[in-house]
Amino acid sequence: MTDPVTSWHRLADGSVLLDGFHALKHALRFGAEVPVAVTTDRSAALALADDLAPDVRDALDALLTEVPEATYAALVPRPHPTAVAALAVRPSRAENLARLAHTGRRAPVVVLDNPRNLGNAGAVIRLAAGFGATGVVTTGTLDPWHPTVVRGGAGLHFATAVERLAVAELPPGPLFALDPDGEDIRGLKLPDDALLAFGSERSGLSGALRARADHLVALPMRPQVSSYNLATSVAMTLYHWSATGGTPA
Ligand SMILES: C[S@@+](CC[C@H](N)C(=O)[O-])C[C@H]1O[C@@H](n2cnc3c(N)ncnc32)[C@H](O)[C@@H]1O
Repeated sequence: MTDPVTSWHRLADGSVLLDGFHALKHALRFGAEVPVAVTTDRSAALALADDLAPDVRDALDALLTEVPEATYAALVPRPHPTAVAALAVRPSRAENLARLAHTGRRAPVVVLDNPRNLGNAGAVIRLAAGFGATGVVTTGTLDPWHPTVVRGGAGLHFATAVERLAVAELPPGPLFALDPDGEDIRGLKLPDDALLAFGSERSGLSGALRARADHLVALPMRPQVSSYNLATSVAMTLYHWSATGGTPA
């Protein structure tokens, strides 16, 4: 059997770092391929699995190798309180693009138009996973698979299709762009195959995204408040979709 540290160094470039027990648990639940996983305390990690994730306990038992604390600390940017880390294979872009472009989608695609904040992007991926959204597409330069986004997404990048695309490459489907000047969302039913687009934290929706939009939609907000945070706007919109007949998986 190959030593896990050797495997880690061989695979680290190009793999997705799963930082902590919960990220590994979610990734396994949603079918991630995980070639290597380490911990400083196997019995503590398996006790956590007994308590919080018995469904993946056997998979963790087979995967986790115990390593000394110094070895673990050298493999990760900063140690996680659960002292668990793993590497996962990034899902195929071609398969994700096929899921995103599938006609007759049963749940929306969330589009973040040039997001700037890695924490917001992670929180949105976690929301999309929770609501069973088809995927999360970002436009612009932010990498939605950046390690900080993956950390914020708690391993849930494997539960929805996450890709970066140009506005001109967005999947087909009616595009509802969220903007405080739009039509009140409370009077609308968002279709299951909708693209739900949200603007950048700094400057809102880009001209290119506005030009592709079929509808501008507003979340209720008192007049003197300028805008909501990006991730909370996504949360309210997905909740509205689910509460008006959308069917979270
Ligand atoms: C932090 S806001 C952007 C604020 C930015 N300074 C601007 O000029 O629009 C990020 C995104 O959240 C969404 N958003 C925030 N508040 C909203 C509201 N009341 N109605 C609809 N969308 C909203 C929009 O998509 C917006 O582009």
